[in-house]
Amino acid sequence: MNGLEAAGELIRVEELMSPRLDISAALQAFDGKKALLFENVKGYDTQVVGGVCGTRARILGALGVDEGDLYSHLQHAIGNPTPCEVGDGPVKEVVVDDPKLSDFPILTHFGDDPGPYITSAVLHARSPDGSMGNVSFHRLLVLDDRRMGIRIVPRHLYRLTQMAREAGQNSLDVSVSMGLSPVVSVVGALPAPFGTCEFDVANTLLGGGLKLTECEHVDALAPADAELVLECRIRLDEDVAEGPFVDQSGTYDIQRLQPAVELVGAMHREDYIYQALLPSSAEHKLLMGMPREVRIYEYVRNVVPTVRGVNMTVGGMGWLHCVVSFEKFREGDPKNVLMAIFAAHPSLKHAIAVDSDIDPYDMEQVEWAIATRFRGDEDLLVIPKVRVSSLDPSSDQEKELGCKVGFDATKPLGKEGFERPTIPVSEEVRRILEKYSKGAGA
Ligand SMILES: Cc1cc2nc3c(=O)[nH]c(=O)nc-3n(C[C@H](O)[C@H](O)[C@H](O)COP(=O)(O)O)c2cc1C
Repeated sequence: MNGLEAAGELIRVEELMSPRLDISAALQAFDGKKALLFENVKGYDTQVVGGVCGTRARILGALGVDEGDLYSHLQHAIGNPTPCEVGDGPVKEVVVDDPKLSDFPILTHFGDDPGPYITSAVLHARSPDGSMGNVSFHRLLVLDDRRMGIRIVPRHLYRLTQMAREAGQNSLDVSVSMGLSPVVSVVGALPAPFGTCEFDVANTLLGGGLKLTECEHVDALAPADAELVLECRIRLDEDVAEGPFVDQSGTYDIQRLQPAVELVGAMHREDYIYQALLPSSAEHKLLMGMPREVRIYEYVRNVVPTVRGVNMTVGGMGWLHCVVSFEKFREGDPKNVLMAIFAAHPSLKHAIAVDSDIDPYDMEQVEWAIATRFRGDEDLLVIPKVRVSSLDPSSDQEKELGCKVGFDATKPLGKEGFERPTIPVSEEVRRILEKYSKGAGA
């Protein structure tokens, strides 16, 4: 928080704001461009923060890497997890034996939401024999003071629930941690292999600086420096209606039967800050999209040697659109690149291949490349009747069937007329420009 404030990235909101709609309206207005700290929350003594991971630059800053080193940095950490030290920490300043969900300022985000939703939490659970752990984000809908509904897409936490069922358990213990280092938030969304505990990946990224603590009421681990941890059990014998929920698409996801979650304890810092995350905000899309870029980078590196960057665009909700900038050597490279992108991320709908002189994170440059280097009759790759994301309302959402389109917006090799002319700038003019751009706050 102090780092954000020192960098001018945090706004303190001192007016009284309700966790029901008011705070999410403010978060939507800033959409992560600044993090917001709500100092006066109606009905609570607790402060609420939101938008912490709201820009790509802030996430890169927290990871301590430049754009160009992001993927190798994350790949190295996934391949070299460092077991975390386990002990006590500030999250145990207050241990609550009989908490109620209404004790916490859980936000209701949109007007037609079925209730308050926890959206910023990273969950840890263990396999029945305790040999492996998993960390992942899951939204939780508050049903009453003790019960929630959890959305579990069939991935690793789902596998752990299946293993628990097979071992004869009727519930699976989980920690639900909030108020975390952005590095822990990033790993919560990383597609690390099953069996790799993402807390250990975060520990590598933090140079051995992530300490964990055993929960007091359930068999799960949580970051020892978290602001708040809810200690819960996923019921394997009870399903409840979860949703409708505004997903990263910015549209309501459907209601589904999902496992119930029971609150059995809580731990928090003395003056803990509740962490919010507005669904469908830039923060939501960046945290979904950036970790996926690592796998896309790996797949594209298999077909071309030099990849400048991968952007799961915020406009494409961090999930459906991807731009890859790379050095083209052969005329056939871009279509192979497009196929590699689709193979790496099966939910993707549109992929755009651009030359390495195009900054993939600058959508104006990407659009310029499409305008000047793309021809619909030659450079389009259309794949009908293929698996797409359930989040795309234009697809058959039940069968997850739709159409993928790839755009080769690279220039033909050896043909003139595609370059952007540059203006040589003298040292004198550079100094003058620097002076005026500082004055304009640029
Ligand atoms: C903000 C945010 C919210 C998410 N919510 C959910 C969710 O409710 N359910 C779910 O299954 N995945 C959700 N995810 C995606 C998973 O956390 C992500 O796919 C993660 O890599 C899964 O972990 P795993 O590979 O260990 O299974 C969310 C991701 C983010 C960034």
